[in-house]
Amino acid sequence: MQKSWSPDSWRNKPAKQLPDYKDISALARAEAELAALPPLVFAGEARNLKARLADAAAGKAFLLQGGDCAESFAEFSANKIRDSFRVLLQMAVIMMYAGSVPVIKVGRMAGQFAKPRSDDFETRNGKTLPSYRGDNVNGFEFTAEAREPDPQRMVKSYHQSAATLNLLRAFAHGGYADLHRVYKWNLDFMQDSPLSQLYEETASRIGQALAFMEACGLTGDKVPAIRETDFYTSHEALLLPYEQALTRADSTTGDWYDCSAHMVWVGARTHQTDGAQIEFARGIHNPLGLKCGPHMDADTLLKLADILNPANEPGRLTLISRMGHAEITKKLPPLLRAMKKEGRHIVWSCDPMHGNTIKSANGYKTRRLADILNEVRGFFASHKAEGTHPGGVHLELTGQNVTECTGGTANVAEEDLSSRYHTHCDPRLNAAQALEMAFLVAEELKNLKSGRPGSSMTAAAE
Ligand code: PEP
Ligand code: CO
Repeated sequence: MQKSWSPDSWRNKPAKQLPDYKDISALARAEAELAALPPLVFAGEARNLKARLADAAAGKAFLLQGGDCAESFAEFSANKIRDSFRVLLQMAVIMMYAGSVPVIKVGRMAGQFAKPRSDDFETRNGKTLPSYRGDNVNGFEFTAEAREPDPQRMVKSYHQSAATLNLLRAFAHGGYADLHRVYKWNLDFMQDSPLSQLYEETASRIGQALAFMEACGLTGDKVPAIRETDFYTSHEALLLPYEQALTRADSTTGDWYDCSAHMVWVGARTHQTDGAQIEFARGIHNPLGLKCGPHMDADTLLKLADILNPANEPGRLTLISRMGHAEITKKLPPLLRAMKKEGRHIVWSCDPMHGNTIKSANGYKTRRLADILNEVRGFFASHKAEGTHPGGVHLELTGQNVTECTGGTANVAEEDLSSRYHTHCDPRLNAAQALEMAFLVAEELKNLKSGRPGSSMTAAAE
């Protein structure tokens, strides 16, 4: 029997990765200010997402979750939001068309500000300061002033999230996402790339399918999915004072929802069974994600699933594995087997980013696209071997033409990293690398449908 829960019951549990605010009354003021502000999302929207994720758990839909590692106050503009939204739309149509499966679009956007860090302090040239923990905690700049946690940053993050969400809702429902515009989503800087041509081919086939459907009388005014899309938001539920302040009781059901995003996840550094983040997450009714790294064992995972989803409700729990390309086919299958044996309804999603971070020879935190793609291949191969459903991917990406991950058709080399390395935290796929990922997932989904071996098998045979 689980103990009673309240939005603040996490305060009685050991909490990792929370900032040390010096001015406690300033923190209380910021929390009160946030608690009085309107919710960013509605409980009904979170319930819709849960219902769609239940389809992904059953192998009838696929989750595409992606966006920045960390949103920031500096990198905030309508064009950047549009470009990330657009690349996610492009990826979704590529995957949907090839895999004949609905794709659920969830942004790491409109609230993805707080970052867990391996070290509490950072040292540069003999000077030691608190680590940067995301723009809703402290500043990126390496000065004592910037690195001091400031509770008012949570209020600023709320307002930036509200503005971002407003634009995302307009893009999703105001005509931009109309499938007739599928050609126009191609990004200018990619015009000459082979991926752009491959994308145009998919777009052209979608155009033909739409023309056929119109001839049958299936037009955008009769089928809303042609003229608009559902787009959901998500972030890591790390900074609990912020999450608690946005947690509200739903007026129709009386259930608690964290109204800062449709979906939130617990990260790999804060998922201790008796920890504060797990305590908070278990009581909210949003769909939840849980990151699983290479050290996660089946018994602990079952315990966590019991805590987070005691009723085994389909769509409630998405397990996001982030094992690393070399480990995935060794570490994931035992978890798949254990959850299958216990009959757990799980959306299995693959984060091929966080287990593949390396330091380049010239000192950049980077990732090789080849490793990232290989982890996804290993993910599909593991599911095929265990007879479970590969339910989605979780990616750090941007619609911008950045140089943060190496490789891909544009062949970003280590020497190129310095030219457009803009991330505040981890290296993201740029738009071309994201499309390359989408074509790989599309091929895997197509093979899954037809019962052919996945690309991993093809790659192994080469
Ligand atoms: C992240 O998703 O940015 C992150 C920190 O991941 P993880 O908790 O898996 O390390
Ligand atoms: Co990250």
